[in-house]
Amino acid sequence: MKNSKKPLVKKDGAAFEDGRAYLLKGGRSLSGEVAVSGAKNAATKQLVAALLADEPVILNNVPDIGDVRATLDMLRELGVGVEFANNRAVIDGRKLKTSEVAEALTRKNRIPILLLGPLLHRFGEARIPALGGCQIGPRPVNIHLDGLAQMGADISNEDGYFVARAKRLKAAMIELSFPSVGATENLILAAVKAKGTTVIANAAVEPEILDTAKLLQSMGAIINLETNRTWVIEGVEKLHGAEHTVLSDRIEAASFGIAAALTKGSIFVKHARQDDMLSFLNAIRRVGVPFKVEQDGILFGSADNYRPVVLETDTHPGFMTDWQQPFVMLLTQAKGVSIVHETIFEDRFGYTETLVKMGAHIQLHSDCLGSKNCRFKHKNFMHSCIVSGPTPLTAADVCIPDLRAGFSYLLAALMAKGESRVTGVGIIERGYEDIIGKLQKLGADIKVG
Ligand code: EPU
Repeated sequence: MKNSKKPLVKKDGAAFEDGRAYLLKGGRSLSGEVAVSGAKNAATKQLVAALLADEPVILNNVPDIGDVRATLDMLRELGVGVEFANNRAVIDGRKLKTSEVAEALTRKNRIPILLLGPLLHRFGEARIPALGGCQIGPRPVNIHLDGLAQMGADISNEDGYFVARAKRLKAAMIELSFPSVGATENLILAAVKAKGTTVIANAAVEPEILDTAKLLQSMGAIINLETNRTWVIEGVEKLHGAEHTVLSDRIEAASFGIAAALTKGSIFVKHARQDDMLSFLNAIRRVGVPFKVEQDGILFGSADNYRPVVLETDTHPGFMTDWQQPFVMLLTQAKGVSIVHETIFEDRFGYTETLVKMGAHIQLHSDCLGSKNCRFKHKNFMHSCIVSGPTPLTAADVCIPDLRAGFSYLLAALMAKGESRVTGVGIIERGYEDIIGKLQKLGADIKVG
């Protein structure tokens, strides 16, 4: 990329600070039924994908969360027709009127970068300001930009904006240097209307991406996931309207599963899908958490004792990095020494410092402590941890640093002795729909203070 003047990734957790706090009294068992919402990491991308159509696109099961609202606000500002009520969004991209995203709209998440393809298709130009999102590492977008450049986009950094230009994007054979979720999605959105057949190798194959591919196919795209992490997309001239139901959120499902295990309860997580959660279910089985797969969900139980494990996060179909935080909480209650090696983000254990203050025994290491070496070997990132348990936890005043860490703090507070005060809750509401209502219904003592 040319002309790097300003950094293009912002540090801006403050975008979600609104002075509210959750007050939680620990010690209650969580039991009953909870329905998981639509997946944040599919819905937000699909709202953008809808702009590629010449007709309105209807999305059902869209979670009413901060990230969706931020994405809808961004689309409205771009002139797009947006209706959103009762988890149903109708997006009319025909009214898209500008190729520039306003800076104030990109502080909250990383979705704007996905507009590059749709805006290039419509206007031949796109201007996107620096990105927000959870601060869990530097989160560069070089893989996105390299791929788009291979498709003929001329990309530069002009005064803190990514500026891309292309008369018509053309197909390319692209091999990603890492199977990035966002880069794969970005290139898919660019390829569906590019001239010719694009191949994206070493790509991400997360279920949320497959769900977006299903939407695109319903809109008229020709897109296939072939063996060996390879997407093959035959560009078409036009895409039309479609109706699609967003798949359910496997991160939220796992979070409630662990809540049952930690609070010695039993929770039926409605809409949890075994297909997307095989590695999670294997991991909790090794720990000793009972579960039963049922017709439309999974019943998670609890046991008196849990076993320690060695675990590595990975790209799909491996154990998701977004399951790591509640899982580490679970390991604080296993008898013995566990190891978790984070191989996706280099800085995703910062949140454990607060758990240690609450009584957990967690040590961070820069070595690759799992069974394999990862990209972060010898780079001095604290990306492995050793957890010794079980340890009782004590209530505390805690501030949420990022979305998934946020849920692990709620779990800690739900088990801790005493009343905890959790601030920074706007961050958790970015990704969990009606979190207070759902936890209260399961028996948690939680309220907004
Ligand atoms: N990376 C690069 N260059 C790039 C893109 C990525 O080096 O151009 C690196 C990242 O720095 C990171 C790794 O590749 O070390 C993985 O990043 P990826 O692009 O796969 O992640 P993402 O698209 O930014 C999405 C989810 C994350 C989730 C990751 C991994 C969304 C909006 N976010 O992020 O979700 O952890 O994939 O599965 O889909 C969350 O929901 O809380 C969350 C952080």
